[in-house]
Amino acid sequence: MKKRILTGITTTGTPHIGNYIGAIRPALDLVEDSNDSFFFLADYHSIIKNQNSDDISASVKNIALAWLSCGLDTNSSYFYRQSDIPEIIELSWILNCVTAKGLMNRAHAYKAASSLNKKDPDKGITLGLFAYPVLMAADILMFDSTHVPVGSDQIQHLEMTRDIASRFNHLYKPLFTIPEPIIQDKEKVVLGLDGRKMSKSYGNVIPLLESEKNLKKSIMKIVTNSLEPGEPKDSKGCTVFDLYKSFASDEAISDFQQSYDDGISWGEAKEILFNLINKELEPIRNRYNDLVNDQALINDLLNDGAKKARLIAKDKLSEIREVIGIKSIS
Ligand code: TRP
Repeated sequence: MKKRILTGITTTGTPHIGNYIGAIRPALDLVEDSNDSFFFLADYHSIIKNQNSDDISASVKNIALAWLSCGLDTNSSYFYRQSDIPEIIELSWILNCVTAKGLMNRAHAYKAASSLNKKDPDKGITLGLFAYPVLMAADILMFDSTHVPVGSDQIQHLEMTRDIASRFNHLYKPLFTIPEPIIQDKEKVVLGLDGRKMSKSYGNVIPLLESEKNLKKSIMKIVTNSLEPGEPKDSKGCTVFDLYKSFASDEAISDFQQSYDDGISWGEAKEILFNLINKELEPIRNRYNDLVNDQALINDLLNDGAKKARLIAKDKLSEIREVIGIKSIS
């Protein structure tokens, strides 16, 4: 079967090492065994939760830079901004018209927001938040994606996409491919500097695109216990060890375990971790430094990606319009 992978990245924040390990690297690895791959910046999703226009535009740039620097090949895949494909928004409306409101009532993100409200359950809730899963369904169904790599928090959205597609297929004509999720973080929570999940909101992230010096500074700040050099150390639940595992071969991991048993000092363990991560990030950083001041190139790459993707989207949308009866008078 033709495998077409597609994934969207909401444009908020700047990618850190947790995003790299959990989402970017595994998604790029999937490119090799798929026929087609689509990666896009979900900028219309990002305005649902963030109305600071400077944040949004900075994040679009940083996220585009991160994916390009991490090796995304724009010749062999589709890389575009959601907002550059207006057909997606048009499809989103069409899907709104076959989506049960009751289905959206059950969406976790919407339920979480309304459960914070005491008196008025609708306080602060926009239609954008409510319809978030429909826009996501449009992203996916527009391109007949077969496989969608996502974090486990997005599984419900994928189920809703499948529901919406089936409903449309049943009502009109089976135009939509029913997509499968590929869960990227099944057993993987990347730990941050303080041992909690690495997340911008905890302020415990290790940067992906900053200088070597900042990478080192940040790794040296990882919280460890107070065991002295020479005392055996437990690798279980240890942030340093955990991060090491995300970058090392099996053989290197067992050597590192041996060093823990032998009582390696925390300073030395962090130094080894830094060297390993730095080796993988160095080429990424080099590409980043080449690109970061070349806005014209980034814009060109995204525009070309949108042009390519739009050809598919236009064809698909005209088929869809035809079956729903939005067509020339005859
Ligand atoms: N909602 C996804 C997230 O926050 C981002 C996203 C938008 C997406 N559209 C998509 C992911 C389509 C996969 C497919 O992570």
